[in-house]
Amino acid sequence: MSVALSLVNLVAVALFIYGLHQLNSPPTARAGNRLAMVGMAIALVSTLLQTQGIGWWAILVGVILGGTIGIVAALRVKMTAMPQMVALYNGAGGGAAALISTLEFFVLASGNGENAVVSVSLVLSAIIGCLSFAGSIIAFLKLQELMTGRPITYPGQQVVNAVILLAILGLAGWFIATLGTMPVLAFLGLLLCSLLLGILFVLPIGGADMPVVISLLNSFTGLAVAVTGFEINSPLLIICGALVGASGTLLTVMMGKAMNRPLTNVLFGAFGSGGGSEPAAGSGGPQQIRSASADDVAIMLAYASKVIFVPGYGMAVAQAQHSVKALGDQLEKRGVKVLYAIHPVAGRMPGHMNVLLAESNVPYEQLLDMDDANPEFPTTDVALVIGANDVTNPAARNVKSSPIYGMPILDVDKATNVIVLKRSMRSGFAGIDNPLYEMPNTSMLFGDAKASVDALTAAVKAL
Ligand code: TAP
Repeated sequence: MSVALSLVNLVAVALFIYGLHQLNSPPTARAGNRLAMVGMAIALVSTLLQTQGIGWWAILVGVILGGTIGIVAALRVKMTAMPQMVALYNGAGGGAAALISTLEFFVLASGNGENAVVSVSLVLSAIIGCLSFAGSIIAFLKLQELMTGRPITYPGQQVVNAVILLAILGLAGWFIATLGTMPVLAFLGLLLCSLLLGILFVLPIGGADMPVVISLLNSFTGLAVAVTGFEINSPLLIICGALVGASGTLLTVMMGKAMNRPLTNVLFGAFGSGGGSEPAAGSGGPQQIRSASADDVAIMLAYASKVIFVPGYGMAVAQAQHSVKALGDQLEKRGVKVLYAIHPVAGRMPGHMNVLLAESNVPYEQLLDMDDANPEFPTTDVALVIGANDVTNPAARNVKSSPIYGMPILDVDKATNVIVLKRSMRSGFAGIDNPLYEMPNTSMLFGDAKASVDALTAAVKAL
């Protein structure tokens, strides 16, 4: 590779890294995304210029086809369907790494074998790529509800997985020992076992845990791509793969921390019923629950001096973000201080609430993360909980037997008044009761979040 092309690649890598850094905060995230896009365009052109063997036009056709599908899909996808789109794209990355390895295998098989580094990289990218591809497809099918989102378990599951893993390790050892010149059938067996393990490893995980799994699979794809870089001697691929692998790993760890669940619990705990559609067991007696009308709540909001909106998964389902912003504007017109408290795992994907609220142009200064929001609640007149449940559950603080005990939560119960907007007494993702609903300072406003927020805005306007 010429020095000029190496420098061009270095510019692309610098843009990726700086772009990633800018994703750290909502105000710079869009610019970060654009920078990374420019980096990717530069990397593509540089790859085209280095291409030997296969004609550049073949790559160009691939780029145009893939790019068109990407643009159309990204324009059409609903925010609530974003996790499954990420799963599909992630699967495509893993699949691509596995395909490159398969191709390289046939090149090796027709020659005299390769050196150990290439053999090890090839076998690793084939295994991890297949695993990530198959696992991501199952994650997509679960999230798209094309198959059940419930954990699929059967007796002896772990033993079956362990046997497949041993077979993979055995075949990989054979591959490396023969420097990639093992029989074609054995290599195909290795690919098949890896695909099977990818499927079987994701099946027992509940649909609602998929974001964590997708992030983990994302880090696998990054790893597969990085080792593919060693295989075909591409520093650009090594660095990009390492960036994806590292960010996927960090995200997985951060989500686990924010949910106070170790990764082993996500992978083997069969947690979550696939969306929290069942009533909470023994959900509190109706006599303890106070419900309020939109007019009552509007008066409370309009005469408050500080209101904090606490959005959750229900706001995303109801697509209520624009209505929420309109209510905020209406209250600000009356001199009420309006803030938004964002829990790191509110919704079903990282940054879910930030993305929705950015879409409706809520100023970034009004968005508080959990650590900044919690000290605000004791001096808040009304905490308006909009389709959030688990992230406000005080049991996480004080009920040792609760499955979410220890999960950091938004302390909405410390506000003078708490108003909860949801449709029923059904539980959230964790499938458990929320004692917040029975507290003396809490009232429920039942109904779809968008309809309720629109009713509140109308009632505040009318005052
Ligand atoms: P949840 O605890 O899932 O509660 C959402 C609530 O929204 C439900 O109780 C539901 O009650 C209500 N709802 C649904 N549709 C609604 C609508 N159209 N209008 C009004 N309300 C509606 O949500 P959360 O508080 O955001 O917590 C997120 C949960 O997901 C946490 O347990 C977290 O650990 C988990 N999780 C998060 C992530 C990420 S990365 N964000 C990843 C995996 C898991 P009704 O049915 O009664 O309306």
